[in-house]
Amino acid sequence: MKKICVVGLGYIGLPTSAIFAKAGYEVVGVDVNPKVIELLNKGEIHIEEVGLPELVKEVVANGKLRGAVSPEKADAFIIAVPTPIHDDYTANVDYVVNATKAILPYLEKGNVVIVESTIPPRTMDDVVAPIIREHGMDPYQDVYLAHCPERVLPGRILIELIENTRIVGGVTPEASKQAGDVYRAVVTGDVIETEAVTAEMSKLMENTFRDVNIALANELVKISSKLGVNAHNVIELANKHPRVNIHQPGPGVGGHCLAVDPYFIIEKAVDESPLIQTSRKINNSMPDFVISQVDRLTCELGNPKVAVFGLTYKGNIDDVRESPALDIAKELVGNSRYNVSVYDPHVRDEQVSFKLDTFEDAIDGAHLVLVLADHNEFKQLDGELLAKKMKTPVMFDTKNCVPELSELLIYRIGDLTNLKAIQE
Ligand SMILES: NC(=O)c1ccc[n+]([C@@H]2O[C@H](COP(=O)([O-])OP(=O)(O)OC[C@H]3O[C@@H](n4cnc5c(N)ncnc54)[C@H](O)[C@@H]3O)[C@@H](O)[C@H]2O)c1
Repeated sequence: MKKICVVGLGYIGLPTSAIFAKAGYEVVGVDVNPKVIELLNKGEIHIEEVGLPELVKEVVANGKLRGAVSPEKADAFIIAVPTPIHDDYTANVDYVVNATKAILPYLEKGNVVIVESTIPPRTMDDVVAPIIREHGMDPYQDVYLAHCPERVLPGRILIELIENTRIVGGVTPEASKQAGDVYRAVVTGDVIETEAVTAEMSKLMENTFRDVNIALANELVKISSKLGVNAHNVIELANKHPRVNIHQPGPGVGGHCLAVDPYFIIEKAVDESPLIQTSRKINNSMPDFVISQVDRLTCELGNPKVAVFGLTYKGNIDDVRESPALDIAKELVGNSRYNVSVYDPHVRDEQVSFKLDTFEDAIDGAHLVLVLADHNEFKQLDGELLAKKMKTPVMFDTKNCVPELSELLIYRIGDLTNLKAIQE
Protein backbone atom coordinates (compact mmCIF):
# COMPACT_ATOMS: atom_id res chain seq x y z
CA MET A 1 0.00 0.00 0.00
CA LYS A 2 1.67 3.18 -1.18
CA LYS A 3 -0.86 5.62 -2.55
CA ILE A 4 -4.18 6.81 -1.14
CA CYS A 5 -6.80 8.92 -2.89
CA VAL A 6 -9.14 10.80 -0.54
CA VAL A 7 -12.34 12.12 -2.13
CA GLY A 8 -13.89 15.11 -0.32
CA LEU A 9 -11.61 17.44 1.61
CA GLY A 10 -13.80 18.83 4.38
CA TYR A 11 -13.55 18.51 8.16
CA ILE A 12 -13.01 14.74 7.79
CA GLY A 13 -11.24 14.25 4.46
CA LEU A 14 -8.59 16.94 4.83
CA PRO A 15 -7.24 15.88 8.24
CA THR A 16 -7.43 12.23 7.13
CA SER A 17 -5.35 13.05 4.03
CA ALA A 18 -2.81 14.92 6.13
CA ILE A 19 -2.46 12.09 8.64
CA PHE A 20 -1.81 9.46 5.96
CA ALA A 21 0.66 11.82 4.27
CA LYS A 22 2.46 12.37 7.56
CA ALA A 23 2.73 8.57 7.94
CA GLY A 24 4.62 8.49 4.64
CA TYR A 25 1.92 7.60 2.10
CA GLU A 26 1.60 9.40 -1.20
CA VAL A 27 -1.80 11.07 -0.82
CA VAL A 28 -3.85 12.82 -3.45
CA GLY A 29 -6.74 14.79 -2.01
CA VAL A 30 -9.68 15.37 -4.36
CA ASP A 31 -12.40 17.97 -4.08
CA VAL A 32 -14.98 19.30 -6.53
CA ASN A 33 -14.39 22.77 -5.13
CA PRO A 34 -11.39 24.17 -7.08
CA LYS A 35 -10.75 26.81 -4.39
CA VAL A 36 -10.06 24.05 -1.84
CA ILE A 37 -7.53 22.48 -4.23
CA GLU A 38 -5.89 25.78 -5.12
CA LEU A 39 -5.37 26.57 -1.45
CA LEU A 40 -4.19 23.06 -0.61
CA ASN A 41 -1.53 23.08 -3.31
CA LYS A 42 -0.18 26.26 -1.72
CA GLY A 43 -0.03 24.42 1.60
CA GLU A 44 -3.06 26.30 2.96
CA ILE A 45 -6.47 25.18 4.18
CA HIS A 46 -10.07 26.46 4.09
CA ILE A 47 -11.32 25.10 7.43
CA GLU A 48 -10.49 25.73 11.08
CA GLU A 49 -8.99 22.83 13.00
CA VAL A 50 -6.36 22.83 15.72
CA GLY A 51 -2.90 21.86 14.38
CA LEU A 52 -4.13 21.28 10.83
CA PRO A 53 -2.60 24.39 9.15
CA GLU A 54 0.90 23.41 10.31
CA LEU A 55 0.50 19.73 9.41
CA VAL A 56 -0.88 20.44 5.92
CA LYS A 57 1.88 22.96 5.28
CA GLU A 58 4.49 20.36 6.20
CA VAL A 59 3.12 17.45 4.13
CA VAL A 60 2.42 19.60 1.08
CA ALA A 61 5.93 21.05 1.27
CA ASN A 62 7.53 17.60 1.43
CA GLY A 63 5.44 16.42 -1.52
CA LYS A 64 3.44 13.74 0.33
CA LEU A 65 0.06 15.49 -0.08
CA ARG A 66 -1.27 17.30 -3.11
CA GLY A 67 -4.71 18.33 -4.28
CA ALA A 68 -6.52 17.51 -7.53
CA VAL A 69 -10.00 18.19 -8.91
CA SER A 70 -10.46 14.61 -10.11
CA PRO A 71 -9.36 11.24 -8.70
CA GLU A 72 -6.28 9.25 -9.77
CA LYS A 73 -5.20 5.62 -9.64
CA ALA A 74 -4.38 4.58 -6.06
CA ASP A 75 -4.16 1.51 -3.82
CA ALA A 76 -6.94 2.77 -1.55
CA PHE A 77 -9.77 5.27 -2.02
CA ILE A 78 -11.38 7.00 0.97
CA ILE A 79 -14.68 8.79 0.36
CA ALA A 80 -15.52 11.57 2.84
CA VAL A 81 -18.22 13.64 1.15
CA PRO A 82 -21.30 15.19 2.83
CA THR A 83 -24.49 13.22 3.54
CA PRO A 84 -27.14 15.82 4.39
CA ILE A 85 -30.90 15.22 4.65
CA HIS A 86 -33.54 16.17 2.11
CA ASP A 87 -36.45 18.40 3.13
CA ASP A 88 -38.52 15.24 3.70
CA TYR A 89 -35.92 13.99 6.23
CA THR A 90 -34.58 11.22 4.00
CA ALA A 91 -30.83 10.87 3.52
CA ASN A 92 -29.25 12.55 0.53
CA VAL A 93 -26.60 10.06 -0.61
CA ASP A 94 -26.08 11.77 -3.97
CA TYR A 95 -22.59 12.98 -2.98
CA VAL A 96 -21.56 9.42 -2.09
CA VAL A 97 -22.99 8.16 -5.39
CA ASN A 98 -21.16 10.87 -7.37
CA ALA A 99 -17.88 10.30 -5.54
CA THR A 100 -18.10 6.53 -6.13
CA LYS A 101 -18.80 7.10 -9.83
CA ALA A 102 -15.88 9.52 -10.00
CA ILE A 103 -13.35 6.88 -8.89
CA LEU A 104 -14.62 4.16 -11.29
CA PRO A 105 -12.28 5.04 -14.22
CA TYR A 106 -9.28 4.67 -11.91
CA LEU A 107 -10.40 1.58 -9.98
CA GLU A 108 -8.33 -1.60 -10.35
CA LYS A 109 -8.65 -5.14 -9.01
CA GLY A 110 -7.34 -5.39 -5.47
CA ASN A 111 -8.03 -1.74 -4.56
CA VAL A 112 -9.57 -0.86 -1.19
CA VAL A 113 -12.61 1.45 -1.30
CA ILE A 114 -13.68 2.96 2.02
CA VAL A 115 -16.70 5.18 2.64
CA GLU A 116 -16.19 7.32 5.75
CA SER A 117 -19.30 9.47 5.20
CA THR A 118 -22.16 8.72 7.61
CA ILE A 119 -24.70 6.66 5.65
CA PRO A 120 -28.06 4.92 6.19
CA PRO A 121 -27.96 1.18 6.93
CA ARG A 122 -27.35 -1.02 3.87
CA THR A 123 -25.97 1.85 1.74
CA MET A 124 -22.71 -0.04 1.10
CA ASP A 125 -24.55 -3.12 -0.17
CA ASP A 126 -27.56 -1.47 -1.80
CA VAL A 127 -26.05 1.73 -3.25
CA VAL A 128 -22.24 1.63 -3.45
CA ALA A 129 -21.72 -2.04 -4.44
CA PRO A 130 -24.21 -1.89 -7.38
CA ILE A 131 -22.36 1.13 -8.84
CA ILE A 132 -19.16 -0.93 -8.90
CA ARG A 133 -20.99 -3.94 -10.34
CA GLU A 134 -22.49 -1.81 -13.14
CA HIS A 135 -18.96 -0.76 -13.99
CA GLY A 136 -18.15 -4.40 -14.71
CA MET A 137 -16.34 -5.32 -11.48
CA ASP A 138 -17.47 -7.68 -8.73
CA PRO A 139 -17.78 -5.49 -5.61
CA TYR A 140 -17.45 -8.56 -3.35
CA GLN A 141 -14.37 -10.06 -5.00
CA ASP A 142 -12.51 -7.66 -7.27
CA VAL A 143 -12.22 -4.81 -4.75
CA TYR A 144 -12.32 -4.50 -0.94
CA LEU A 145 -15.30 -2.38 -0.07
CA ALA A 146 -15.88 -1.11 3.50
CA HIS A 147 -17.62 1.51 5.59
CA CYS A 148 -15.47 3.10 8.28
CA PRO A 149 -17.48 5.78 10.10
CA GLU A 150 -15.96 8.83 11.75
CA ARG A 151 -16.60 9.85 15.33
CA VAL A 152 -14.10 12.68 15.79
CA LEU A 153 -14.79 15.80 17.82
CA PRO A 154 -14.15 19.14 16.07
CA GLY A 155 -11.19 20.82 17.76
CA ARG A 156 -9.58 17.44 18.54
CA ILE A 157 -9.75 15.86 15.10
CA LEU A 158 -6.01 15.25 14.62
CA ILE A 159 -5.75 13.53 17.99
CA GLU A 160 -8.94 11.51 17.72
CA LEU A 161 -8.29 10.35 14.14
CA ILE A 162 -5.29 8.51 15.54
CA GLU A 163 -6.43 7.53 19.03
CA ASN A 164 -10.12 6.64 18.63
CA THR A 165 -11.26 3.06 18.17
CA ARG A 166 -12.13 2.51 14.50
CA ILE A 167 -15.02 0.35 13.36
CA VAL A 168 -14.33 -1.14 9.92
CA GLY A 169 -17.32 -2.78 8.25
CA GLY A 170 -16.45 -4.64 5.07
CA VAL A 171 -18.95 -6.12 2.62
CA THR A 172 -16.90 -9.35 3.04
CA PRO A 173 -14.57 -10.49 5.86
CA GLU A 174 -11.58 -10.02 3.54
CA ALA A 175 -12.72 -6.46 2.75
CA SER A 176 -12.88 -5.73 6.51
CA LYS A 177 -9.34 -7.04 6.92
CA GLN A 178 -7.89 -5.14 3.97
CA ALA A 179 -9.62 -1.88 4.97
CA GLY A 180 -8.64 -2.45 8.61
CA ASP A 181 -5.00 -2.72 7.55
CA VAL A 182 -5.23 0.72 5.92
CA TYR A 183 -6.09 2.22 9.32
CA ARG A 184 -3.72 0.02 11.35
CA ALA A 185 -0.85 1.81 9.63
CA VAL A 186 -1.75 5.13 11.30
CA VAL A 187 -4.21 4.46 14.14
CA THR A 188 -3.08 3.70 17.69
CA GLY A 189 -6.61 2.91 18.93
CA ASP A 190 -8.26 -0.46 18.31
CA VAL A 191 -9.34 -1.26 14.75
CA ILE A 192 -12.37 -3.52 14.98
CA GLU A 193 -13.57 -5.46 11.96
CA THR A 194 -17.26 -6.15 11.41
CA GLU A 195 -19.89 -6.27 8.64
CA ALA A 196 -20.77 -3.16 6.66
CA VAL A 197 -24.34 -2.89 7.93
CA THR A 198 -23.20 -3.27 11.56
CA ALA A 199 -20.70 -0.44 11.09
CA GLU A 200 -23.38 1.71 9.46
CA MET A 201 -25.83 1.09 12.32
CA SER A 202 -23.25 1.49 15.09
CA LYS A 203 -22.33 4.99 13.90
CA LEU A 204 -25.99 6.01 13.65
CA MET A 205 -26.82 4.52 17.06
CA GLU A 206 -24.02 6.48 18.76
CA ASN A 207 -25.64 9.76 17.78
CA THR A 208 -29.17 8.42 18.22
CA PHE A 209 -28.32 7.34 21.78
CA ARG A 210 -27.33 10.90 22.58
CA ASP A 211 -30.36 12.40 20.83
CA VAL A 212 -32.77 10.09 22.69
CA ASN A 213 -31.12 10.79 26.04
CA ILE A 214 -31.17 14.57 25.51
CA ALA A 215 -34.87 14.21 24.62
CA LEU A 216 -35.42 12.48 27.96
CA ALA A 217 -33.76 15.40 29.77
CA ASN A 218 -35.82 17.89 27.73
CA GLU A 219 -39.01 15.99 28.57
CA LEU A 220 -38.01 16.14 32.22
CA VAL A 221 -37.76 19.94 31.86
CA LYS A 222 -41.36 20.14 30.65
CA ILE A 223 -42.62 17.75 33.34
CA SER A 224 -40.72 19.68 36.02
CA SER A 225 -42.11 22.98 34.81
CA LYS A 226 -45.62 21.58 35.20
CA LEU A 227 -45.03 19.93 38.57
CA GLY A 228 -42.95 22.70 40.12
CA VAL A 229 -39.71 20.72 40.39
CA ASN A 230 -36.15 21.84 39.70
CA ALA A 231 -35.01 19.50 36.88
CA HIS A 232 -31.35 20.42 37.36
CA ASN A 233 -31.48 19.22 40.96
CA VAL A 234 -33.33 16.07 39.89
CA ILE A 235 -30.64 15.27 37.30
CA GLU A 236 -27.82 15.92 39.73
CA LEU A 237 -29.32 13.66 42.36
CA ALA A 238 -30.41 10.90 39.99
CA ASN A 239 -26.93 10.84 38.49
CA LYS A 240 -25.53 9.95 41.94
CA HIS A 241 -26.84 6.47 41.12
CA PRO A 242 -23.82 4.54 39.84
CA ARG A 243 -25.59 3.39 36.68
CA VAL A 244 -27.63 6.48 35.77
CA ASN A 245 -26.47 9.28 33.49
CA ILE A 246 -29.31 11.64 32.62
CA HIS A 247 -28.08 14.08 29.99
CA GLN A 248 -28.36 17.88 30.17
CA PRO A 249 -31.44 19.64 28.78
CA GLY A 250 -31.22 22.64 26.47
CA PRO A 251 -32.91 24.70 23.75
CA GLY A 252 -32.88 21.76 21.30
CA VAL A 253 -30.38 19.60 19.46
CA GLY A 254 -28.37 20.83 16.50
CA GLY A 255 -25.36 20.20 14.32
CA HIS A 256 -25.03 17.98 11.28
CA CYS A 257 -24.73 14.71 13.27
CA LEU A 258 -27.08 14.43 16.27
CA ALA A 259 -29.94 16.29 14.62
CA VAL A 260 -29.57 14.40 11.33
CA ASP A 261 -28.34 10.83 11.83
CA PRO A 262 -31.45 9.46 13.64
CA TYR A 263 -33.46 10.20 10.49
CA PHE A 264 -31.21 7.76 8.57
CA ILE A 265 -32.54 4.98 10.81
CA ILE A 266 -36.14 6.20 10.82
CA GLU A 267 -36.18 6.24 7.01
CA LYS A 268 -35.23 2.56 6.84
CA ALA A 269 -37.49 1.29 9.68
CA VAL A 270 -40.32 3.77 10.17
CA ASP A 271 -42.70 1.39 11.98
CA GLU A 272 -39.99 0.02 14.24
CA SER A 273 -38.53 3.33 15.46
CA PRO A 274 -41.25 5.15 17.48
CA LEU A 275 -38.87 6.02 20.33
CA ILE A 276 -36.31 7.59 17.99
CA GLN A 277 -39.05 9.53 16.17
CA THR A 278 -40.57 10.80 19.41
CA SER A 279 -37.15 11.90 20.62
CA ARG A 280 -36.60 13.89 17.44
CA LYS A 281 -40.02 15.53 17.96
CA ILE A 282 -39.26 16.40 21.59
CA ASN A 283 -35.90 17.94 20.71
CA ASN A 284 -37.41 19.79 17.75
CA SER A 285 -40.10 21.19 20.08
CA MET A 286 -37.60 22.86 22.40
CA PRO A 287 -37.19 26.14 20.44
CA ASP A 288 -40.98 26.69 20.74
CA PHE A 289 -40.79 25.84 24.45
CA VAL A 290 -38.02 28.43 24.92
CA ILE A 291 -39.95 31.07 22.98
CA SER A 292 -43.10 30.41 25.03
CA GLN A 293 -41.09 31.05 28.23
CA VAL A 294 -39.73 34.30 26.72
CA ASP A 295 -43.34 35.27 25.95
CA ARG A 296 -44.34 34.51 29.55
CA LEU A 297 -41.43 36.54 30.92
CA THR A 298 -42.08 39.58 28.75
CA CYS A 299 -45.89 39.54 28.49
CA GLU A 300 -46.33 42.73 30.54
CA LEU A 301 -43.80 44.78 28.58
CA GLY A 302 -44.66 46.93 25.55
CA ASN A 303 -41.74 46.37 23.18
CA PRO A 304 -39.33 44.22 25.22
CA LYS A 305 -35.67 44.22 24.29
CA VAL A 306 -34.32 40.67 24.32
CA ALA A 307 -30.56 40.19 24.07
CA VAL A 308 -29.89 36.77 22.52
CA PHE A 309 -26.54 35.34 23.65
CA GLY A 310 -25.22 32.54 21.44
CA LEU A 311 -26.28 31.12 18.08
CA THR A 312 -24.21 27.97 17.66
CA TYR A 313 -25.48 24.45 18.34
CA LYS A 314 -22.90 23.95 21.08
CA GLY A 315 -20.43 26.02 23.05
CA ASN A 316 -17.09 27.43 21.90
CA ILE A 317 -17.52 26.61 18.20
CA ASP A 318 -18.51 28.76 15.20
CA ASP A 319 -20.89 26.21 13.62
CA VAL A 320 -24.56 27.24 13.23
CA ARG A 321 -25.66 24.26 11.09
CA GLU A 322 -29.08 22.95 12.21
CA SER A 323 -28.72 25.14 15.31
CA PRO A 324 -31.89 25.47 17.43
CA ALA A 325 -30.39 28.67 18.86
CA LEU A 326 -30.35 30.16 15.37
CA ASP A 327 -34.00 29.13 14.85
CA ILE A 328 -35.00 30.81 18.12
CA ALA A 329 -33.09 33.99 17.24
CA LYS A 330 -34.67 34.12 13.76
CA GLU A 331 -38.16 33.66 15.20
CA LEU A 332 -37.66 36.44 17.75
CA VAL A 333 -36.03 38.79 15.20
CA GLY A 334 -39.00 38.23 12.88
CA ASN A 335 -41.54 39.04 15.62
CA SER A 336 -42.27 42.78 15.68
CA ARG A 337 -43.38 42.57 19.32
CA TYR A 338 -39.72 42.19 20.23
CA ASN A 339 -36.73 44.44 19.92
CA VAL A 340 -33.97 41.83 19.53
CA SER A 341 -30.21 42.20 19.77
CA VAL A 342 -27.92 39.25 19.04
CA TYR A 343 -24.44 38.66 20.43
CA ASP A 344 -22.20 35.70 19.63
CA PRO A 345 -18.44 36.18 19.92
CA HIS A 346 -17.83 33.04 17.77
CA VAL A 347 -20.12 33.82 14.82
CA ARG A 348 -19.38 36.14 11.89
CA ASP A 349 -21.89 38.44 10.17
CA GLU A 350 -21.79 36.51 6.88
CA GLN A 351 -23.03 33.34 8.64
CA VAL A 352 -26.42 34.82 9.54
CA SER A 353 -29.23 36.74 7.86
CA PHE A 354 -29.58 39.39 10.56
CA LYS A 355 -27.37 41.94 12.24
CA LEU A 356 -25.02 40.87 15.04
CA ASP A 357 -24.34 43.26 17.90
CA THR A 358 -21.42 43.92 20.15
CA PHE A 359 -21.75 42.82 23.76
CA GLU A 360 -22.31 46.43 24.90
CA ASP A 361 -24.96 47.20 22.26
CA ALA A 362 -26.70 43.90 22.90
CA ILE A 363 -27.22 44.48 26.62
CA ASP A 364 -27.85 48.23 26.46
CA GLY A 365 -31.45 48.78 27.64
CA ALA A 366 -32.29 45.05 27.49
CA HIS A 367 -35.13 43.62 29.57
CA LEU A 368 -33.91 40.06 29.21
CA VAL A 369 -30.70 38.23 28.29
CA LEU A 370 -31.51 34.90 26.65
CA VAL A 371 -28.55 32.49 26.79
CA LEU A 372 -28.70 29.84 24.04
CA ALA A 373 -25.10 28.55 23.85
CA ASP A 374 -22.65 27.60 26.58
CA HIS A 375 -19.68 29.59 25.30
CA ASN A 376 -16.93 30.17 27.87
CA GLU A 377 -17.55 33.92 27.54
CA PHE A 378 -21.00 33.45 29.08
CA LYS A 379 -19.58 31.61 32.07
CA GLN A 380 -17.60 34.70 33.06
CA LEU A 381 -20.11 37.52 32.70
CA ASP A 382 -19.79 40.71 34.71
CA GLY A 383 -23.04 40.87 36.70
CA GLU A 384 -22.44 44.43 37.81
CA LEU A 385 -22.01 45.65 34.22
CA LEU A 386 -25.07 43.74 33.03
CA ALA A 387 -27.23 45.17 35.83
CA LYS A 388 -25.98 48.68 35.10
CA LYS A 389 -26.65 48.54 31.36
CA MET A 390 -29.85 46.48 31.27
CA LYS A 391 -33.26 48.01 31.85
CA THR A 392 -34.36 45.03 33.92
CA PRO A 393 -31.57 42.66 35.03
CA VAL A 394 -33.22 39.35 34.15
CA MET A 395 -31.69 36.35 32.38
CA PHE A 396 -33.09 33.12 30.95
CA ASP A 397 -30.27 30.57 30.74
CA THR A 398 -31.32 27.65 28.51
CA LYS A 399 -27.92 25.93 28.90
CA ASN A 400 -27.67 26.20 32.69
CA CYS A 401 -24.11 27.47 32.20
CA VAL A 402 -24.07 30.95 33.77
CA PRO A 403 -22.93 30.95 37.42
CA GLU A 404 -25.09 32.72 40.00
CA LEU A 405 -24.77 36.53 39.66
CA SER A 406 -26.07 38.41 42.70
CA GLU A 407 -27.05 41.43 40.57
CA LEU A 408 -29.27 39.39 38.20
CA LEU A 409 -32.44 37.33 38.45
CA ILE A 410 -31.55 34.16 36.51
CA TYR A 411 -34.15 31.66 35.37
CA ARG A 412 -32.76 28.33 34.23
CA ILE A 413 -34.40 26.02 31.72
CA GLY A 414 -34.98 23.26 34.26
CA ASP A 415 -36.24 25.56 37.01
CA LEU A 416 -39.12 27.70 35.81
CA THR A 417 -41.40 27.19 38.80
CA ASN A 418 -41.19 30.72 40.14
CA LEU A 419 -41.15 32.44 36.79
CA LYS A 420 -42.80 35.86 37.01
CA ALA A 421 -43.51 38.33 34.23
CA ILE A 422 -40.86 41.09 34.14
CA GLN A 423 -42.07 44.48 35.41
CA GLU A 424 -40.43 47.66 34.24
N1 LIG B 1 -17.34 16.95 10.56
C1 LIG B 1 -17.52 16.05 11.53
O1 LIG B 1 -17.23 16.32 12.69
C2 LIG B 1 -18.03 14.65 11.21
C3 LIG B 1 -18.03 13.69 12.23
C4 LIG B 1 -18.47 12.40 11.94
C5 LIG B 1 -18.94 12.12 10.67
N2 LIG B 1 -18.96 13.07 9.68
C6 LIG B 1 -19.46 12.69 8.35
O2 LIG B 1 -18.37 12.73 7.42
C7 LIG B 1 -18.86 13.13 6.13
C8 LIG B 1 -18.07 14.34 5.66
O3 LIG B 1 -18.30 15.41 6.55
P1 LIG B 1 -17.45 16.75 6.54
O4 LIG B 1 -17.82 17.47 7.79
O5 LIG B 1 -16.03 16.45 6.25
O6 LIG B 1 -18.10 17.49 5.28
P2 LIG B 1 -17.64 18.89 4.63
O7 LIG B 1 -18.87 19.49 4.09
O8 LIG B 1 -16.77 19.63 5.58
O9 LIG B 1 -16.69 18.45 3.41
C9 LIG B 1 -17.09 17.65 2.33
C10 LIG B 1 -16.24 18.02 1.13
O10 LIG B 1 -16.60 17.13 0.06
C11 LIG B 1 -16.54 17.85 -1.16
N3 LIG B 1 -17.29 17.09 -2.17
C12 LIG B 1 -18.62 16.97 -2.32
N4 LIG B 1 -18.88 16.12 -3.36
C13 LIG B 1 -17.70 15.72 -3.84
C14 LIG B 1 -17.32 14.84 -4.92
N5 LIG B 1 -18.22 14.19 -5.65
N6 LIG B 1 -16.00 14.68 -5.17
C15 LIG B 1 -15.07 15.33 -4.41
N7 LIG B 1 -15.37 16.17 -3.39
C16 LIG B 1 -16.68 16.34 -3.11
C17 LIG B 1 -17.10 19.21 -0.80
O11 LIG B 1 -16.73 20.19 -1.74
C18 LIG B 1 -16.50 19.44 0.60
O12 LIG B 1 -15.26 20.14 0.52
C19 LIG B 1 -20.35 13.37 6.31
O13 LIG B 1 -21.05 12.22 5.96
C20 LIG B 1 -20.49 13.64 7.79
O14 LIG B 1 -21.78 13.33 8.27
C21 LIG B 1 -18.51 14.32 9.94
